[in-house]
Parts: sequence; C-alpha cells; structure tokens
Amino acid sequence: MTGPTPGARLLGSGSALPPRVVTNAELAEKIDTSDEWIVARTGIRQRHIAGDGETTATLATQAARAALDDADLTPADIDLIIVATATPDNTFPATATKVQHALGCNGGPAFDVAAVCSGFLYALATADSLLRTGGATRALVIGAETFSRILDWEDRTTCVLFGDGAGAVVLEAPGLDTARKGEAGILATRLHADGAQHDLLYVDGGPSSTQTVGHLRMKGREVFRHAVVNLAGVLGEVLEDAGVSAEEIDWVVPHQANARILDATAKKLGIPPEKVIVTVDRHANTSAASVPLALDEARRDGRIKAGDLLMLEAMGGGFTWGACLLRA
Ligand code: ACO
Repeated sequence: MTGPTPGARLLGSGSALPPRVVTNAELAEKIDTSDEWIVARTGIRQRHIAGDGETTATLATQAARAALDDADLTPADIDLIIVATATPDNTFPATATKVQHALGCNGGPAFDVAAVCSGFLYALATADSLLRTGGATRALVIGAETFSRILDWEDRTTCVLFGDGAGAVVLEAPGLDTARKGEAGILATRLHADGAQHDLLYVDGGPSSTQTVGHLRMKGREVFRHAVVNLAGVLGEVLEDAGVSAEEIDWVVPHQANARILDATAKKLGIPPEKVIVTVDRHANTSAASVPLALDEARRDGRIKAGDLLMLEAMGGGFTWGACLLRA
C-alpha cells in the first residue's frame, strides 16, 4: 500500500531556555504548595523563568539560531518565519517580524500563530501547506513563550504548572534537490478547535476587552478530562490518514502539560511509555514551546534518528488541539 506523499522535511532543530531555574521548593517558600503535591499531580520538578531582558522574541531568536546551525544553514536560506505564541512581546507587530530582523533574514513572510499550547502544531501545518504549494522554500517554525508574565503568582492552582522557553525547527519544501530526498517529511496533520470551551482555559485580559494583558485562568480538572479524550481522538485520525498503526510509531513527542496526561494518552493508544519523550519534569508546561523543545532534546541526545516515525501532538486553550505524523 502506498502511503501519503511526504510534505515538508525536517532539516534541523534548536532550543532556548532561560538560565534561571525555579524549583518546586522555591515556589513553596512563597505560596501554599509543596514539592510532593506538584510532583504527584503533574510530574513537574522545576521550570525555567525568563529574566530581565529575556522576552519571547529573544528566546525565539536564540532557538532559531540553534536550529539553523543544526541544519547547517544561514538566515539567508530562510524565506518564511512562523512563531507560535500566546505571549508575544507586543500586541503588534508579530514576534516573528522581530525574529526576522534579529536574524537578518530576507523579506519573506513572517507572522505569528495564536493557538496557545497547540500553536506549534498549527504553525507546522501552516508551514507545511506553504512549503508544499510553492509559497516558500525553507521555513523556520518556532514555538516560544514567556508564560511567567501572564501567571497570577498568587494562584497556586495555575502558577506551579508553567515555564518559559522556545523551540524551533527548520523545514524544507518537498521536491527540493537535496540529500534529504526520499520518504522523510510530514505525512499527515489534523487540527481542531472548540470555542465553546473558552471558559475552561483562558486569559482574563486583552487589548480589545480590558486593555490589559490579563492572567491565565484554568479549571484544571475539566481541562484534564477533555485533553485525554481529544488527544486520543486526533491521534487516531492522523494514524488513519497516514495508513499506519500505533505500533509503527518510534517516538511520541507530546505537548508537555502534565505527566499524567502523557501517561493516560499513551495508554489509550497502547503506546509504551518508553516511546514518549518527556521534558515536563524539567521544563513544566511551556505552551507552544513544549513540543519543539522536546523534539530538539530527543534529536540531540540521539534518541530520535533520521528515518524515525514521530507523532507530535498538543492540546490547549480555545480549546485547540492537533497532531502531526512526521518521518524524521
Ligand atoms: N499545591 C497544593 N495544593 C493545591 C495546589 C498546589 N499548587 N493547587 C491546587 N491544590 C489543591 C486544591 O485547592 C484542592 O484542594 P481541596 O481538595 O482542599 O479543594 C486539591 O489540591 C485538589 O485540586 P484539583 O484541582 O482537584 O487537583 P487535580 O488532581 O485536578 O490536579 C491539576 C490539578 C494538576 C491542575 C490537574 O487538574 C491538571 O493537570 N489538569 C490539566 C491542566 C493542564 O494540563 N492544562 C494545560 C493543558 S492546555 C495548556 O497547556 C494550556
């Protein structure tokens, strides 16, 4: 049986994490929580928090540079930049244009995608479409967040869950005459949204409503329930689209919201936990940055190799959710 025609190919990846690490014990000095509670409920042990002078754009640029180095390319090779973020430096212009300027790329399109924790999946699908149809030849797709700046640090039910960081990939259009020809590339992507679930996970501010940035609000237990069901559903759809079975997946690279969601989703699909890339213990939930951060870590430590079949998946505010099957 012939599978789907591979789309955009992965040429490189990179990461950026602020040097400042905040442990659960440090949080417990300021709010009524404990390392035991946080680890038992979420698997999180620490998070990186942006310091003075560090912003979503600076982290995104750092991750993008690392991805370009990894791909052995220069900014001049890039003609599309997409930044997935819910915490842009400014209401406008797009953070992607700041990254473009900082890198010194040419005048190709640069824009942001706002789908919160699913943002990287949405950005990947958008880049894949443009690369498949001749809209660009090489793209930087970046997930970058500074969620520490929209947290209510007095709300223990949310502030312990999130961290800052950025991850980036370089993608190339299929059909380009390079050494990476063959079966590699994006095989199938599915995206979803359900705006009716707004009140379960949102930020209570914004330019057009309150003229403030606002703070993250979440009904964690209900989000958890939806996450497991939605993710299992979209993973099944992507497998069916690509005509592959769950056993053929070499690595699941999930959004890192909560170790229990990762376990429950893998179990539902019958995927052994050893095949799931986990960074939530050290990064916490970095929203749109979490999938590319996990992907980059596992590529750099040698777990993910060229030719491996990867399942990327995420769910976030909106709700939005999605999955992408990719041959590395
Ligand atoms: N420390 C200590 N106790 C706490 C804390 C804390 N940080 N936070 C809440 N509690 C208490 C609550 O007050 C409650 O106490 P009570 O029983 O006396 O009322 C108790 O712990 C249990 O609270 P629950 O909210 O029911 O705890 P739950 O087991 O559901 O765990 C959690 C909460 C970790 C947020 C979980 O629901 C979860 O992970 N949900 C998914 C959230 C998520 O993944 N969001 C992101 C997905 S989308 C995105 O990434 C944007």
